Amino acid sequence: MRFYSIPAALCVLSLPVFAHADNLKARHERIAHKRQTTSPPPGSSGAAPPPGATPSSSGPPPPATFTALDTGTGIPPLSSITSGMPTQATLAPSVTFTPGASPPVSGAPPLPSRAPFVIADWPPVNVVPPGNSPEVTEWMKELDGHNIPDLSPTINGSCEDDPKAAADSASRGWWTCGGITRATDIVNCPDKLTWGISFDDGPSPYTRKLLKYLDEKDLKAMFFVVGSRILERPEILVEEYMAGHEISVHTWSHSKPLTSLTNAEVVAELGWTRKIIKDVLGVSPTTFRPPWGDIDDRVRAISMAMGMIPILWTSTPATGPFDTNDWKVAGGLVPGPASFDTFNAILGNASTMETGFIVLQHDLYEITVDLAIGYTLNAAQTHSPAFNVSTDSSVEVVRQS
Ligand SMILES: *[C@@H]1O[C@H](CO)[C@@H](O)[C@H](O)[C@H]1NC(C)=O
Ligand SMILES: *[C@@H]1O[C@H](CO)[C@@H](O)[C@H](O)[C@H]1NC(C)=O
Ligand SMILES: *[C@@H]1O[C@H](CO)[C@@H](O)[C@H](O)[C@H]1NC(C)=O
Repeated sequence: MRFYSIPAALCVLSLPVFAHADNLKARHERIAHKRQTTSPPPGSSGAAPPPGATPSSSGPPPPATFTALDTGTGIPPLSSITSGMPTQATLAPSVTFTPGASPPVSGAPPLPSRAPFVIADWPPVNVVPPGNSPEVTEWMKELDGHNIPDLSPTINGSCEDDPKAAADSASRGWWTCGGITRATDIVNCPDKLTWGISFDDGPSPYTRKLLKYLDEKDLKAMFFVVGSRILERPEILVEEYMAGHEISVHTWSHSKPLTSLTNAEVVAELGWTRKIIKDVLGVSPTTFRPPWGDIDDRVRAISMAMGMIPILWTSTPATGPFDTNDWKVAGGLVPGPASFDTFNAILGNASTMETGFIVLQHDLYEITVDLAIGYTLNAAQTHSPAFNVSTDSSVEVVRQS
């Protein structure tokens, strides 16, 4: 096995780990990216269930016929990883970090001290933040001097429901309809057989269980975090960061597709998440991932103007998007073994690619965390040919100004 535990990047990208937005504009040109040369079939983009969606009960779990690939992890058999499975106790923190602690990233400032959050200082959770607050008005100035395409918002980010925008998806650069990407999007890792591990939608009560496993295996991941969930669990964000994982923005509310929002609402979704990460960690994120991968040229231009580069996930004609469908297991739509089959097909196809790849997984639900710990991460670590999940010492760190 070839694994490395040096400070992490999603994969080896010449990507600043964090930066003040002002520093970023000139660096965009130097971002390592590979434009996907192929597109997934229409309508196949991966998606997480909306926040608050609870798995439907589906009766008692079927009889156990498998044991976890990674024995000793306490993860249930694959056949019983299904919606409605029994839950386990969540973990307490194994270590508490205090202000002034040094992050494991060279050049990073010490953890800031911070008064406990006053909920009223922040937008409501799980809904799109208003576009007319003083904060958003200030952040809107970051768009000055940038060419933000004058595209009208999509009806609701769905190709089927917005045929007019869908017909225009190539010129809009709309990933949802036809998998259109642009040269600035990060859709894979540059080096062959390199796997970019990513988890979306946390921090959740189950993230800590995943962090413990990643630490034991010396794996590093990128966490795409939801701002309003950081308000609830800031200490878990700190644990992710201090363990050497990377932090990226996944909007404040994860409630509506970004292409359906106004410019000011997109700025609000990104700006509030960037702000809460900065308040908790002392550094600002330089990347983001749109919920459901829903991005077009307008959303791209806004995020780039705000200093955040879009990261999607890999897609090929044979497999479609590299979405493990773990979220469908949590939602009761797909059984655990089927999700794992999807994952193995992804790995099979990934090993024939000339570039590395980025796979979508989630740390929002116990089920998705169990699938990762017991199955998918193990399958990737024992795969032949071996994957490099590494990372990099050449990541460019920009000191916070
Ligand atoms: C999108 O809008 C259409 C038409 O208004 C509606 O029928 C559909 O349910 C909506 N879909 C989603 C995902 O919100
Ligand atoms: C690639 O993906 C397709 C579709 O999921 C699957 O049928 C095929 O077996 C995969 N190829 C490999 C080499 O795993
Ligand atoms: C894995 O990636 C790291 C970071 O780029 C690189 O230094 C190392 O040589 C790679 N290892 C293999 C076996 O390809």
